[in-house]
Amino acid sequence: MGALKLTALNKSFGAVAVLHDIQLEIADGEFVVFVGPSGCGKSTLLRIIAGLEDITSGGIEIGGRDVAALSPAERKIAMVFQSYALYPHMSVRKNLAFGLENLRFKKAEIDKRIAEAARMLAIEPYLDRKPRQLSGGQRQRVAIGRAIVREPEIFLFDEPLSNLDAALRVQTRAEITRLHRNIKTTMIYVTHDQVEAMTMADKIVVLRAGRIEQVGTPLELFDRPRNLFVAGFLGSPRMNILTGRVEEARGGEALIRVASGAVLAAKVDPGSVAAGQPVLIGIRPAHFVLAQAGLPFIVDYYESLGTETYLYGHLEHFQEKREPALLAERPQDKDTSHSGKSAQIIIHRPGHFAPEPGSRLTVMPEAGRVHVFDPASELCLSSGGTVHGC
Ligand SMILES: Nc1ncnc2c1ncn2[C@@H]1O[C@H](COP(=O)(O)OP(=O)(O)OP(=O)(O)O)[C@@H](O)[C@H]1O
Ligand SMILES: [Mg+2]
Repeated sequence: MGALKLTALNKSFGAVAVLHDIQLEIADGEFVVFVGPSGCGKSTLLRIIAGLEDITSGGIEIGGRDVAALSPAERKIAMVFQSYALYPHMSVRKNLAFGLENLRFKKAEIDKRIAEAARMLAIEPYLDRKPRQLSGGQRQRVAIGRAIVREPEIFLFDEPLSNLDAALRVQTRAEITRLHRNIKTTMIYVTHDQVEAMTMADKIVVLRAGRIEQVGTPLELFDRPRNLFVAGFLGSPRMNILTGRVEEARGGEALIRVASGAVLAAKVDPGSVAAGQPVLIGIRPAHFVLAQAGLPFIVDYYESLGTETYLYGHLEHFQEKREPALLAERPQDKDTSHSGKSAQIIIHRPGHFAPEPGSRLTVMPEAGRVHVFDPASELCLSSGGTVHGC
């Protein structure tokens, strides 16, 4: 059925290599989300799975059979694009029927499949309209319907919701999740949206520059990122990164002096750090608590959303500069580069909170929520074992 296996897969366009040694297994019925910066190869990988691009080397199996030489139609895959790609001169019904008619399905079977897909997606009232007479959300539902009627073994979605407004995105996201629950067909879904990735995926695949950085459940990737890139890429606002130096390391515990002078306790892989070693510390905005003693945080400004507040500021006496090149580039992030004496720190607080700009708070990371990274390899130094923290 819809299990997928990619083995040592490489893809080049002429002299330019865009995918490197991709190894990936997707179980039948899984919902897998691909994320990664623009240009990292997400669409190319989808198109390879669909059979719209050939592979330069490596293997691709669907349901246990080698499909490298099979055409898109023979692979039993349906793809939904960001641009709905509907035929403008055909009615919705005809758009849904067209692919099946080409495959010489009987009319009764086509009608049955259209009726079922239309019911599932609530597009029955629009079946006789042309695409231009539909809203963006309705058009995207027709595009999904066109995939459903083919009863594929794998659905591929390439940023299907990015042309929709916020409310429609939420609604269509829920519809796709419900669809997956009902039909339990393998789905591979590309998105730039953090919430889509975290809420829809059984498994997230993080790509960077044509390589897989990490594969795991949303919470595994969020709580135990393998490296600085994954840590910075997932989570919004992104993880704060501080420079520090190991003061003391014993077994799986380390005391780390951060550049502001405070000392933080962190779990690490036994033997992975030694006293005196420079490290990078990652703390997510939501994982700070106000404390009696700890890191002195100066508020520059805040953004209150009513139910939650983001505090933007810096650590007092913070001398060392954060190294922006070490962090993943994410288009949705604000520019956090700075020329001042300290890195910007973002702290998330529940509820409405309105500190005066310039006010000084003392904050500490929650226990077990300090991620430690090696500045040279960028690898997380506490990869296994703990549920929280990295
Ligand atoms: N037909 C092509 N010929 C040459 N280079 C290509 C071709 N298609 C894609 N590329 C290159 O391959 C790389 C990966 O492109 P791809 O479209 O897969 O990225 P992506 O991760 O989907 O990006 P985005 O998030 O912007 O959609 C890019 O550097 C792109 O310029
Ligand atoms: Mg793309």
